[in-house]
Order: sequence, then C-alpha cells, then structure tokens
Amino acid sequence: MSNFPVNKPVLVTCALPYANGKCHIGHLRTYVPGDIFVRALRKQGQEVTFISGSDAHGTPIVVNAEELGTTPTELVKKYHDHFYSIFKRMGVEFNNFGNTDSPANHARTNSIVEALIEKGYVYPQVTKQAYCPECKRFLPDRYVKGTCPHCGKPARGDECDQGCGKHLEPGEIRDAKCQICGHAAEYREQEHFFFRLSEFGDYLSGYLNILGGTTNAINYAKIWAKELKDWCITRNLEWGVRFPGHDELVVYVWVDAPIGYISFTEEWATRTGNDWEKYWKGDSRIIHFIGEDITYHHCIFWPAMLKGAGYTQPWAVVASGMLKIDDKKFSKSRGYVVWVDEDYLDHGFHPDLLRYYLASYTSHTKELNFSWQVFQDKVNNEVVGALGNFLHRTLHFTHKNFGKIPNGEVDSGIYEKIKSTTTSVISAFDEYEFKKATDEMMELAAFGNAYFQSKEPWKLVNADKEACGRVLKNCLQIGKALTLLFEPVLPGNMEKAWKQLGLPGDVHKAGFQDALVEIESVKIEAPEILFTRIEDKKIKEMEAILDKRIKIAMAKDNETQETGQFVTFDEFGKLDIRIGRITSAENIKGSDKLLKLEVDIGEKRQVVAGIAQSHSPGALVGKQVVLLANMKPAKLFGVESRGMILAADTDGVVLLEPEKEVREGTKIR
Ligand code: 2FM
Ligand code: ZN
Repeated sequence: MSNFPVNKPVLVTCALPYANGKCHIGHLRTYVPGDIFVRALRKQGQEVTFISGSDAHGTPIVVNAEELGTTPTELVKKYHDHFYSIFKRMGVEFNNFGNTDSPANHARTNSIVEALIEKGYVYPQVTKQAYCPECKRFLPDRYVKGTCPHCGKPARGDECDQGCGKHLEPGEIRDAKCQICGHAAEYREQEHFFFRLSEFGDYLSGYLNILGGTTNAINYAKIWAKELKDWCITRNLEWGVRFPGHDELVVYVWVDAPIGYISFTEEWATRTGNDWEKYWKGDSRIIHFIGEDITYHHCIFWPAMLKGAGYTQPWAVVASGMLKIDDKKFSKSRGYVVWVDEDYLDHGFHPDLLRYYLASYTSHTKELNFSWQVFQDKVNNEVVGALGNFLHRTLHFTHKNFGKIPNGEVDSGIYEKIKSTTTSVISAFDEYEFKKATDEMMELAAFGNAYFQSKEPWKLVNADKEACGRVLKNCLQIGKALTLLFEPVLPGNMEKAWKQLGLPGDVHKAGFQDALVEIESVKIEAPEILFTRIEDKKIKEMEAILDKRIKIAMAKDNETQETGQFVTFDEFGKLDIRIGRITSAENIKGSDKLLKLEVDIGEKRQVVAGIAQSHSPGALVGKQVVLLANMKPAKLFGVESRGMILAADTDGVVLLEPEKEVREGTKIR
C-alpha cells in the first residue's frame, strides 16, 4: 500500500538556494529528486503544491556584494533570475519560486518572531560578539573565519564547514579573524536575542520519532536533540529582516529562510485563490527536500520554531547525500565543479539525461559521484541502449508493417508484469529511493527488449501477421507503461514518446494507473529517434573543460600561497611611505577613538587616525611620524582621510618616528 494519495493537503519544498552564485550539479541533487517526487505523487492522483525560492539574506551575500561593488538587492536579483531559468530549463517546475526579501516574507517573519516573543520563547542577553577594530564593525557569521572549537579545522563564524559540520553560535569560533581585512577580531559585549531552543528537547525527541523522511537526517537529529543550546537569533547587519523593535538588528538568516517556505505558499495561494493555512495551520503533509548538510536547521531549529509559534510541523525531511566530481570532494575553489548552464545545457545535452543520472546513480542518501565517463556509460547503455532502443524498435517496426497500433488484446502476463513494476516503482518513491524506482523502470525496458527479441516479430510478420500484431500490441502496452513510469524522470522525452504512441491527452497529467488501460488502435507516424548515443569525442571535450578548470584553480592556489608569503620589490615600490610632521590635531565629534590630523609631507595631508585613546591631540602637534601617503582615500565619521600613520601593533598604540629629524616628505625605502 502506498503512502499516497492521502486526503490531506500535501506541500513539497526544496531548500532555498543562496542567491549568491551559479547553479551547479550539486544543487540539482535536491531539486531534481524533489521534482521527480512531486511528479510521481501527481501521477498517483495526489494534489501537491511545490515550493522553493531564493535565500536572499545572510552575510555571504553582503560580503560578496561589497566585493563586487554592487548592492545585495542587485546581486540577489541576478542569481534569483539565474536559478529560476536553470530550474525551468531542467524541467523542475515549482508552483512558486519566491525570494526571502519579499514583503510577504518580511511580514511572515515578523509575525512568527513576534509570536515567539509573546509566548516567552525569546529573551535578551548580553554576549560577546566578534568585532573588527580595523573595519570598525561587528562580524556576524561568515564575516568571521577561524578555527572550530570542536574539531580544530578551519571554520566560518556560524558553521564548521570544513570539519565536523557543527553549527557554531556567535563567539564560539576560536582565533577569530575578520573575513574582509584579515585582522584579528576583538570581542565586545552587546545585547542580542536568544530563542529558548533548550526548552524544546522533549518535544523534539518525541517529534523525531514520528518524523518521516530519510534516516540520514533523522538519526543525527535524534542525537542533537539531546544537547540543545539556546540559539542566538539576531545579527548586527543592515541586510535582512529587522528584528521587531530594534532597528540595529536583523534576524539570523536561518530564521527568515525557512519561513520562506510559508510566505512562498502564501504568495502562491493569493495568486491562485487557494488557502495557505490548510498547509501551515492545519492537518497537512509538509515534505522538505534538503541537502544533508542542513539537517540541523530543518530537523531541530525549524520544527521548534514552528511548534513555538503555533504552526504545522514538517511530516518528512528528505536529505540527499553529498556530491563528488571525479571522486573528489566537490569544490568551487579547487575547480571540482560542473556548472549546469555553461558545462551542460549550453553544450546541447538534454536535461532529461542529467535528471536520469542524478536519480539513478545511487541511493538518495549516499554520496553521488559525477564523472563524464560514467555519464556517457549510463546514457548510452541504459537510456539509449535499453529504454530508447525498446521504444524505437517497437514503434518503428509497428509503423513500417502496420501503420497503426494493431488490434487485439494485451496478454494478461504482460499486464501482470506492468502491474508489479508499477507497484514496485510507487513503493520505491514512497521510500525516497529514486535509484530503486529507476532500476525497476529500466528492468521493464529490458524485459520489453527481451520479449521483442524472443518473439522475433521480423519473422512472424511474414509467417503470421496476426500473431505479429499481438506481439507488437504487447510491446506497445509496455511502451505506454514505460512512458508513464519514466515521465517524472524524463519529462521532456516522455512527452514525445506519448505522442509517438498515438496516446491522447497530456502525459504529464495522466496517472500511473493508465498503464493498465489498453492502448488504443490508432494510426501512428514514423517515429523520430528519442535518444542518441553520446560520442567519445564529446566526452573528451567535456573532460578537457573540467581538467582545465582544475589546473587553473591549482595554479591560482599556488600563486596565492606564494604571493601570500612574499612581497615582490615592485609591490613594495608601490607603497609611498614618507616622513611627515603633525601640524594640527583635534578630536572628531561622535568618536572616542578617532583624531583628525594634519600632516605636512611637503604638502598638507588630512589623515584620520584611531589613536584618540592613547594620544592627546595637544601632545601630537609638532611630532614627526611615518605616513603611508598613497593609502586609498576613505571617509571616517564623515571626515576624509588621505593616508595612514604607521604604528607598532602592540598593547596600546606606539607611533613610529625617525631616528633623527629629517626633512618633511622624505621617502622611506
Ligand atoms: O544552505 C543553503 O543553501 C540555504 N540557503 C538553504 C536554506 S533552506 C531553507 F531553510 F530556507
Ligand atoms: Zn568542527
């Protein structure tokens, strides 16, 4: 018995990609199975709403926009459009693909945070926050790099991304450094707001016993639920959803991102005249497709937040394993990446082939390796060799000798085979076992090929045309079943196959049960070939592109390591360092650290220096100092600074001065 259809509203979501970079094959490991699953549910007569969208907030987007000299809004728009178009090209069809910076998401986040505050689940606490004295700002999350306190591997502020994968609370990371300028971070006290996650331990332990989905997610979550710490849910950022009543704070991105699942459902409901509350306030089934690296957020934070605020909690969390490229850990910086547009679609590969690879390579929860060689083998042997070959030889032979689907009954044994395959496919989908499902489908194609071969219709057609017609009818019925079963995986090509079989209506709307409805005896056209073999030459070309990218990344890495260690004479020569004399000094209004200085280096220079706490303006006038004169001009507290006074980096500030007085403007070499 299948889990579906069920008389409850069903909502399937896919994790929201950060609108901060291009779509690669790793992303598709969540979206393609999500889409296959939704199509398979619809084929069982289940109504489903399918939701995803861009994750617009968080520090990496701010950092990246800053580096690129653009605004977070523009950056998010660019990548939002990119993901939307890639998903469309890949046949991943959401009912709504939203954006967490939308008014609907700001409003829903506010309402949920306010509900949590009202119910006493949020409290303020003074905590130590990383602060960069150089950039003069607090360093939330990925503005900080350092060492994981749990495993000692390099980590970023909110997550040990290269080691044990643990979520890190602000202040936990060791050896914190500013991600922008590399300066060691200081810790400063500041009031932040915490969610009482620790109060949800019992609730979560019970909930995780009934939560559906894949065991890779749930088993880890059960362990984590035993040691919950309260969760800091505010950040010092401009970009994000404001924390109610505090203009200087936004909520942590992992608060407003999953709330996107709700607000995107609301947007869809408003557009289509549906009711979003039946999913999020009623008895529904909410199924989240995610990558296993974000299990903690979906199995711990998110259900606790929903429970606390009075919303329906997820029914299942389906977590995909990670992706490897050529058996190496996926890594954009090391070049082990396959971009979906420039490395795949733009080369004319059909989206269905990659969908098939992602679904059928291995179990959904296991690590998936992508290699062009394996891609070629799977396409040529399975998609072309088994499925394509069966459909084409059946249709071609039928068209040539009958011009239509022959009359006559389908054997009961054939119906039995179709029925048992369909049952196995459905139960594999129920278990989120996409490989098992596609293996069953391919087995039916192999069965069809063996049947065709064993009946030798090319001999029968002369000896006994009616018997030949019956054989073909059986093959065509198998073809119809294959088209329906494969539609969730290969939607583009199965649409064509459906037409080639002369079947009425829309294959995307037809149900699995139609596989047992006898194929009608209609005229058919000469079939076009659906799938063609991928040639060795094309695979070599693709491998060369990947190799080149890896080599460039390696060379860059070596160069960075070298240039990181040494400075060339030319580089040193670019620094214009001079002796200057301070001719005036005064405090800057509103700052207890900065002084406005005038320095004579043969010409007058206005410089802002962070030395007010160690030096009084009066004592500075007349002193000779060392000035980096071609420092990029900057404005601090509205005052322009065109140079940097050099000082020893020690406790307090110790200014450098020449051994004996020299002429103002003397260059230092
Ligand atoms: O890890 C990520 O890529 C996140 N952008 C996923 C967010 S999923 C959801 F919770 F919003
Ligand atoms: Zn770690």
